This record gives sequence, structure tokens and C-alpha cells, in this order.
Amino acid sequence: MNNAISASELTKFYGDFLAVDHISFTVNYGEIFGFLGPNGAGKTTTIRMLTGVSTPTEGVASIMGYDIVRQSVEAKSIMGIVPDISNVYDELSAWANLIFTGKLYGISKAKREERATDLLKLFNLFDRRNERVRGFSRGMKRKVCIAMALMNDSRVLFLDEPTSGLDVESVREIRQMVRMLNKDGLTVFLTTHNLEEANQICDRIAIINKGKIAAVDTPEKLRQTMRSVQSVEVAFRDTPQDVVEDLKGLRAVSSVEKRGDKYRLITDEPTVVLQEIWTYAQRMKLTPISINTLGPSLEDVFMKLTGREMEEEIVRNNRMGENRTRR
Ligand SMILES: Nc1ncnc2c1ncn2[C@@H]1O[C@H](COP(=O)(O)OP(=O)(O)OP(=O)(O)O)[C@@H](O)[C@H]1O
Ligand SMILES: [Mg+2]
Repeated sequence: MNNAISASELTKFYGDFLAVDHISFTVNYGEIFGFLGPNGAGKTTTIRMLTGVSTPTEGVASIMGYDIVRQSVEAKSIMGIVPDISNVYDELSAWANLIFTGKLYGISKAKREERATDLLKLFNLFDRRNERVRGFSRGMKRKVCIAMALMNDSRVLFLDEPTSGLDVESVREIRQMVRMLNKDGLTVFLTTHNLEEANQICDRIAIINKGKIAAVDTPEKLRQTMRSVQSVEVAFRDTPQDVVEDLKGLRAVSSVEKRGDKYRLITDEPTVVLQEIWTYAQRMKLTPISINTLGPSLEDVFMKLTGREMEEEIVRNNRMGENRTRR
């Protein structure tokens, strides 16, 4: 049996710049496979190669056994693509967008109307089908985009950051929709830079950074890694000289980083560390002016997985899942 998606040594150079660096992975039938990585990691470039939009510089990829370069017609006929930039026509109605897509796929009139009706009902857009998409919310537009990708009876759905920039309710709805479609047998490949999203809906997750896959794992394994890189950040009114050494010595603290006037204590037990800090502060007669518990950032997880230091930009862009408790 072939895999739903298979990539071998897939590589993309833009001039001299290596955007995707000899990545290999397989996606099983019926799986929701997440491609998790920070900005510029190579997620969109990979999706573009897998969907035949961009030609790989090296390597091969296949969809349901069809080589994406040599058998692109067959491969494309069984895939749906939701690109990172909306491909919805704002001036057309939701209905017209779907019908137009159906025509592009060469689907018969009766079939495309039936399919458009089913999809619009599924996405709760049927009542608004004749309105121009221009007046739709971002979440509604994204749903039209996904519906368009499903017009051709797709067996593999590619979603490039399907929930980015959407309100909480739309995010929830789209994730639910993806799960439901998957239950009906659709294989899903999605990119995200959101750790929580990857954890919530993916069966397996590949972590990509700077064009390379750092790890392919189940969310549970990833969660274990994440648990070990939680942290508590504290700042004191008057900081004694040797506070770093003291903080390192607290129970459940694995390491301490100084960030400006704050100290970040890495731990897998934030509640224990909070208690330890209070006790320490009382003993030393220190006044904590802020204490935050922070979830792991994508950067933390990468560092843990690869042991490599990430660049400042990645640090800035990817403080995900922070859970702040100010006092
Ligand atoms: N057409 C292009 N020409 C030159 N460089 C490109 C091109 N497309 C992408 N790149 C570069 O390749 C790298 C990977 O880009 P890509 O869009 O695949 O990242 P991404 O993981 O999708 O990022 P994001 O989370 O921002 O969408 C980036 O450094 C980007 O600047
Ligand atoms: Mg992208």
C-alpha cells in the first residue's frame, strides 16, 4: 500500500538560498499530519512542492502514489488546497465561488451544484450563499476557501495555516470541521506555527525549522517535551547579587536565565516553583514585583529537540501559549 503523502529528500533552492533542505517523511492514510514551524521555516514552500505549485529543486514527492511532477494531473485530481493567501473571489458570492471552482475541476453542472449545496450547508453558509464574499468575516471567507478545496472529492486536503488571524469562534469551528472531515476518511496535511493547534488536532507532527525537519512525533511525545520547558518568570524590587545561584538551587528548577530585570526559571513543575519562590522571597525579605507562569514557546521546544539556540527573530515571533498570572 502506498502512503497518502510521501516526500523523499524534498529540496527547494531560491537562487542560492536553501528554503527546504532534503526533507523526507510519509503521511499515512486517514491521518491529520501537522507541519509545525516558525515564520520562514519552509512550511509554505513544502506545501507548494507537495501540491505541484512549485517544482522541487531536488527530491520527489507523491500523493496517493502519484508522483507530483510526472503524474501531476492524477495527483492534483485527488487533492484539495487551502493556500496561505485567500484564493476566494471577493466580488463573487459564496455560491458562485464554489460553482466556479467546480467548473475549473471539470465537474458536471448537476454534480457541482449538489456538491456546492452540501458544502455550504456543512459550513453553515447556505443561507448566505448569494451574498458577495466581500462582506463576509475572515472566518467565513476561510470556510469558503476550505469548501472550494473540497469541491473535487478530495482525498488529501492541504491547509496552509488554516486558522491564523481568525477569531476564537472561527478557529474552533474550523478545527472541528477538519476533525469531522478526517473522520470521514480525508487525509489532512496542515501547517501551523501554533503549538496548541498542532497538539489538539494532529495525529502526528513534524517540526520544521530553517528548512529542516527536527522531529516527527505524536502530540503526546511533543507534550512531554513541552512539559519539561515550562517556566516561571519573576522580578524582584531589589535584586541581590547572587540571586541567580539561589534561584538555581530551588526545588524543581532545571535552569535559570536572566532577561532584563526578570529571571526565568525553567521547570516541569511550575506550581512547585511558584511556592519555592514565595518561600525564598520571604526568607530573603525580597519583594516580588511580578511573577508569570509561561507555557513553552515553539523556540523552547526546538531548543529541547535540537539542542540548538534559535535566533532573536524566532524568539520574538513565537512566544506561543503564554499563560500569564500577574500579581
Ligand atoms: N519565491 C521566493 N523567493 C525567494 N525566497 C523565498 C520565496 N518563497 C519563500 N522564500 C523564502 O524561503 C523561506 C521559507 O519560506 P516559507 O514561505 O516556506 O516559510 P513558512 O514556513 O511558510 O513561513 P510563514 O510561517 O511565515 O508562512 C523564507 O526564508 C522565505 O523568505
Ligand atoms: Mg507560510
